[in-house]
Amino acid sequence: MNNPYLPDAYKILDIKKETQIDYTFKIAYEGALVGGQFMEISIPGVGEAPISICNYDDSSLEMTIRKVGNLTDQIFNLEKGDTLYMRGPYGNGFNLDHYRGKDVVFIAGGTGLAPIRKTIDHFVNNPDEVKNLEVLIGFKSPKDRLFIDDIDRWSEKNCVTVTVDQGDDSWTGKTGLITTHIDKLDLTNISEKIAVVVGPPIMMKFMLFELIKKGFKEKNIWVSFERKMSCGIGKCGHCKIDETYVCLEGPVFNYTTAKALID
Ligand SMILES: Cc1cc2nc3c(=O)[nH]c(=O)nc-3n(C[C@H](O)[C@H](O)[C@H](O)COP(=O)(O)OP(=O)(O)OC[C@H]3O[C@@H](n4cnc5c(N)ncnc54)[C@H](O)[C@@H]3O)c2cc1C
Ligand code: FES
Repeated sequence: MNNPYLPDAYKILDIKKETQIDYTFKIAYEGALVGGQFMEISIPGVGEAPISICNYDDSSLEMTIRKVGNLTDQIFNLEKGDTLYMRGPYGNGFNLDHYRGKDVVFIAGGTGLAPIRKTIDHFVNNPDEVKNLEVLIGFKSPKDRLFIDDIDRWSEKNCVTVTVDQGDDSWTGKTGLITTHIDKLDLTNISEKIAVVVGPPIMMKFMLFELIKKGFKEKNIWVSFERKMSCGIGKCGHCKIDETYVCLEGPVFNYTTAKALID
């Protein structure tokens, strides 16, 4: 019988430095993926952690990893050509059919942009699939920005607002917390508008509160959770809230379900 905890070895094809503490690793990989799914990545003898798939094509996938602890510190020592261990993909990811034909806004805070990057890119490249597309992204500061090339490309379609909490001398863009920019969205069709929200817990909490206050319907809001997970396969119970296994049923949830899962 196959051991579901055993990872396979994959080759690192490229490493891109996004910020001082966020690197995007491009890894050789062939197989079906959905944006917003995650992999359990590991280094033998060091540890294992779930990381979102932020981009993929037929022969590779990308993950943007923040250096925060035991495993990620070691991963930052790896180089192009080295081996990274992974098992997965796990989780449901973003189902494009939930957004097709709709008026959609994708809202991302910081590293929350990683899990929805592929989905945003799909709709920017296929604008006929949605009625209206807007993207609202918030970072702490200009130097914390991720995927700058993608955001520049998306911005050519005039659908993107980027704000930083705190600017610097070189920053000529928007400033202020991401929640203060909701009013700049096209809110004419608010009872039908779909919002997809991903970010750190504090941003999610305030953003969801503001969206509902503005008139977004709970059933039209989708979120993705990066809550504590371990096995990723419904065995250990780390991610379980009441009867819900976030690793199996999520990490993407409709808000009608997610509101009971927010801790
Ligand atoms: C579905 C999902 C998707 C995710 N996607 C991504 C992603 O795309 N990119 C990404 O970078 N991360 C992602 N994460 C988060 C990532 O899995 C965690 O950051 C992971 O814990 C990193 O492992 P680590 O061993 O490097 O860090 P750990 O050593 O586990 O540390 C993690 C956190 O705990 C703190 N910590 C560590 N040791 C201590 C201590 N002794 N006392 C107090 N605090 C401590 C660290 O400061 C850090 O904030 C995702 C998580 C989930 C569940
Ligand atoms: S992470 Fe182990 S049950 Fe979900």
